[in-house]
Amino acid sequence: MKSNKYSLEDVSDFWEKFSCGEIYASGSSPLENFKNETLARYQLEPYIKDFAEFPSYKDLDVLEIGVGMGSDHSSIASESPKSLHGIDLTPRSIQKTKERFSLFQLKSDLTVDNAEDLSFEDNSFDAVYSWGTLHHSPNTKKCFEEVHRVLRPGGIAKIMIYYKYSSTGFILWLRYGLLSFRPLRSLDDIFANHLESPGTKAYSFKEARELTKNFSDVNFQVQVSHADTFEGEVGQRHQGFLLKIAKNFYPKKLVRFIGKYIPIGLFFLITIKK
Ligand SMILES: C[S@@+](CC[C@H](N)C(=O)[O-])C[C@H]1O[C@@H](n2cnc3c(N)ncnc32)[C@H](O)[C@@H]1O
Repeated sequence: MKSNKYSLEDVSDFWEKFSCGEIYASGSSPLENFKNETLARYQLEPYIKDFAEFPSYKDLDVLEIGVGMGSDHSSIASESPKSLHGIDLTPRSIQKTKERFSLFQLKSDLTVDNAEDLSFEDNSFDAVYSWGTLHHSPNTKKCFEEVHRVLRPGGIAKIMIYYKYSSTGFILWLRYGLLSFRPLRSLDDIFANHLESPGTKAYSFKEARELTKNFSDVNFQVQVSHADTFEGEVGQRHQGFLLKIAKNFYPKKLVRFIGKYIPIGLFFLITIKK
């Protein structure tokens, strides 16, 4: 199983500087900031709602791991779950999500916590949701074990992690492998050092099967993301002239078309049942 040299502290330091999606949170008031962030998110990534199926959380005990700015968390809260808990590694994300929930008068129990060692009893939840989080934690295998532990038998988890053999992986290899005169550099090393927080991982189908082997039902989908098509802000680490050119000339429609038939998207959408 994958391991790397980065610690939980490295990951936390990265996300504490700037929460995911914060770049879209601009408006004339704090309430507008949150509204605009959510609007931009679902415009750019309409597939989140299709995958998450937020209305399905009604009347369930739900945990979200890695709430970030709290957009998806508020979508879950709006569907009247029986109970809702949200955790994140960084105080910044928890504080932002608390602020959002207070402004929109939504309810959730929000705490700083670690996906690798959750502070919940076994069999606590009917559903666990986690978008773009577990691949950032140094021990992603442990995170999946924790999801299994806190889910009740028959409970469902919906998790997005990164898919390795994606168009984003290829572009990163072009930039940090081939064009850096290191064509033999591994994709694992490139993802760990050049995509978002230090030590970020991306998975093949075989590796994802290994992560989810304790679950009874497993469903995988690969989704072409906004990162694969250079739309929106592609991440805190990537800016500059080459990126501007790529944004204008990259064959977005072609990538999306191919992605319907061949798994080339960055987002690995995993639905698992305990
Ligand atoms: C890319 S952001 C995603 C946030 C949110 N789900 C979204 O889609 O906007 C990754 C988040 O994962 C959190 N995170 C990383 N490792 C974690 C861990 N071990 N436990 C809890 N949260 C973690 C980070 O603090 C960060 O807020």
